[in-house]
Amino acid sequence: MSQSNLSTAVEEVASDTILNTAAQEAATDTIVNIDLKVQAEKGPDLRKDHPKSHALVWGEFKVEEDIPESLKVGIFAQPKTYPLWMRLSNASPAQKRGKLASDLDPDVRALAIKLLQVEGDKVLDDEQETQDFLLINHPVFFVRDAQGFANLTKASVGQANEEELRSLQPTFEVLKAVTSKQVANPLLIQYWSTTPYQLGSVSIKFSVKPHEQDTPGSPPTSETYLREAVVEYLSEKGKDATFDFLVQLYVNDEQTPIEDPMQEWKEEDSPFIKLATITVPAQKFDFEERKRLDEGLSFMAWHTLAEHAPLGSVNLARKKVYQEIVKARRKYAQHRIEEPQAHSSVLDDPE
Ligand code: HEM
Repeated sequence: MSQSNLSTAVEEVASDTILNTAAQEAATDTIVNIDLKVQAEKGPDLRKDHPKSHALVWGEFKVEEDIPESLKVGIFAQPKTYPLWMRLSNASPAQKRGKLASDLDPDVRALAIKLLQVEGDKVLDDEQETQDFLLINHPVFFVRDAQGFANLTKASVGQANEEELRSLQPTFEVLKAVTSKQVANPLLIQYWSTTPYQLGSVSIKFSVKPHEQDTPGSPPTSETYLREAVVEYLSEKGKDATFDFLVQLYVNDEQTPIEDPMQEWKEEDSPFIKLATITVPAQKFDFEERKRLDEGLSFMAWHTLAEHAPLGSVNLARKKVYQEIVKARRKYAQHRIEEPQAHSSVLDDPE
């Protein structure tokens, strides 16, 4: 293939992955509608995805002093230290009412961070001074766009047709690669944004990399071994956990595409640049009051300063999905408190 034919082919493939507005909205609504039903059935006051938390811990996010001038934007404009909440989770929905997936089962492990006392213009107005970062333990996401996630969501409830199932083969391969990773301690593994974001006028992906490396030993046996590992590390051994907050810069559409989060931004094409250090000090966190706070919080990519706005079809879909899911779970919890229901009408029996 000549160079010019090759670039035309690349452009066609690239433009293929960008959904038009109607298709984007339809795919998003498919996700929202199925998610709301699954959430209502399996745990109306829980997150539909990532309901199982290993820890909600506090810490700080210290912006480096010597970051490149062009990246001194938004929260990185000055060498400031922000307080934060960090939540570690499994991605799987609840298996059924009252039964969260076992840590021994294959799963995507995830990290959510909420910076506090952030000044500037937010995209959404439900929280005034926060900046959230959501990541998973793999460098690429398992769908390319909102349509891919809609197909996966349909497949998860047995509603995908044959063609949709066929189109999900690459998705299932990525999911297999992510979920078969052995994790001993979720504080000691690297996480990636997988999808791109703005950093002022440039586009980036971000990653959180621990200073100490995970060392999986003999196979775990407890269904909640990941929470137990964090308790042992932070509360019993009294160790601090530290991480680098890193970014990769967009280079070009072939090596670092915006519209295909299934393609890795390779480090040799775009090396990581450190912008901040995260510290989670030794602490106790495994108590009921903290678990209630954890359940009520909302982490979302769209809790952001305008300078760090999410990019691409997958991120755009998330704007509506997360807002609808958190609204539903908070409304349900609130209603239960305001207007108690008889036991017979409350579907909270795990059996
Ligand atoms: C269209 C794509 C996606 C959909 C539909 C989706 C859906 C969801 C939903 C419904 C929740 C629960 C929200 C809540 O109740 O507060 C959630 C949580 C989460 N998602 Fe996604 N997600 C998507 C993509 C991603 C991506 C690309 C990442 C990061 C690589 C990610 C990471 C997370 C994390 C870390 C949480 C847990 C947040 C917490 O701890 O509260 N998701 N997702």
